[in-house]
Amino acid sequence: MSDVMTNSENKTENQMWGGRFAGGPASVMEDINASIDVDRRLWREDITGSKAHADMLASTGIISDEDNAAIQKGLDAIAGEIERGEFPFSKALEDIHMNIEARLKELVGEPAGRLHTARSRNDQVATDFRLWVRQSCADAAASLRALCRALASKAAANADAVMPGFTHLQTAQPVTFGHHLLAYVEMFARDAARFDDAAQRMNECPLGAAALAGTSFPIDREQTAKALGFDRPCANSLDAVSSRDFAMEAMAAASITATHLSRLGEELVIWTSAQFDFVKLSDAFSTGSSIMPQKRNPDAAELVRAKAGRIIASMNALMIVMKGLPMAYAKDMQEDKAATFECFEALGLGLVAMTGMIEDLSVNRGAMKSAAGDGFSTATDLADWLVRKLNMPFRDAHHVTGAIVAQADNTGVMLHELSLADMQQVEPRITDDVFSVLSVDASIASRTSFGGTAPENVKREAEKWLKHLGS
Ligand code: ARG
Repeated sequence: MSDVMTNSENKTENQMWGGRFAGGPASVMEDINASIDVDRRLWREDITGSKAHADMLASTGIISDEDNAAIQKGLDAIAGEIERGEFPFSKALEDIHMNIEARLKELVGEPAGRLHTARSRNDQVATDFRLWVRQSCADAAASLRALCRALASKAAANADAVMPGFTHLQTAQPVTFGHHLLAYVEMFARDAARFDDAAQRMNECPLGAAALAGTSFPIDREQTAKALGFDRPCANSLDAVSSRDFAMEAMAAASITATHLSRLGEELVIWTSAQFDFVKLSDAFSTGSSIMPQKRNPDAAELVRAKAGRIIASMNALMIVMKGLPMAYAKDMQEDKAATFECFEALGLGLVAMTGMIEDLSVNRGAMKSAAGDGFSTATDLADWLVRKLNMPFRDAHHVTGAIVAQADNTGVMLHELSLADMQQVEPRITDDVFSVLSVDASIASRTSFGGTAPENVKREAEKWLKHLGS
């Protein structure tokens, strides 16, 4: 082995596992093996987990109360050092677990060496990581509910603001802006519930599974599970140390959320364009152009849309890492954290940015309303009138309406601008009463079916959500 490959500072064996080694690792070995730059973010969870483990070792008589007291004190001191930015993180010590344990040894001496009794880094990291992901699910659910509140209060204020509803991004039928926003409330509320479910399902404690087979020490896994807020210990030691479906499930929930955020981001981009001009983002959520002084760009909405790519890619990355692994632990699993951290960082940013954009959004009711009348958007109302008043089968009414729309299109007028005589040329039985259904206001007011866009429905639903979500 050449000198270039060997880390000269590190020729001695690793102090945690080097008993059977005569030489140190090649420097590239250290580079590929060390995860401290990523997993140092787990320091709180690692200390919490170690404190619970040491307490349990003492209460089962596996270590003495004196040793436990020294360990507890040392771990608290380390938490202080890390919080103050004074902790000497070392790459040679690979990961957060060995960094903390090595420092504990420096601080308290021999008792530190007893902390790892009946434990392995495999159950240790699985526990730390579950704690982190569980908290991230709770944070995501809380942020989603804050976003739902912002959307529901905008919806309440715009329960009767008419806008075009689209299919294929072609004007379809008038809806209200409040109704449109409440559709996202439904999506994001389901997303929050998915995070709740994932957190609930992952709430079993791996600690005490040891390396893979359990331990011969008389440990109390119920005690550590309870101390760490888990419902129960994981029932199978192999599963406990080598499953990462909890992270995949959390990232699946994040990916679905990201697709919803991205769709709303896309709509904001469309709505803020000069061609639509439906809404205006606040200065706080717009950016200018360095060359075109008139520009107000919706960068935050675009970036929320783009984050979906990274979030989904993170879920993908972990699934691909895991899919070929024989049981139990394999070092591949160390790559779980970078993906998961990136996923939740992007998600958290996206959720907060979207909430801010929605809260600050101003609505151009005039532009929305005039667009709502374009594209013969009340044609379905005309067809429905023919069914109701002339007892026509809907298929026939559809055909008649199509002919009337063609006539309006050819003469360049909107449906309600046609004369009664024009319409009677197509269907002589049409009466003056038809004009009562051709305006966009009449159209939305008539959509009173459950889940429909009538302003009274929208107002009631928005209030229901606001009450349900609390403050
Ligand atoms: N840093 C490792 C990880 O994140 C900790 C577990 C190491 N276990 C082992 N047997 N080498 O996966």
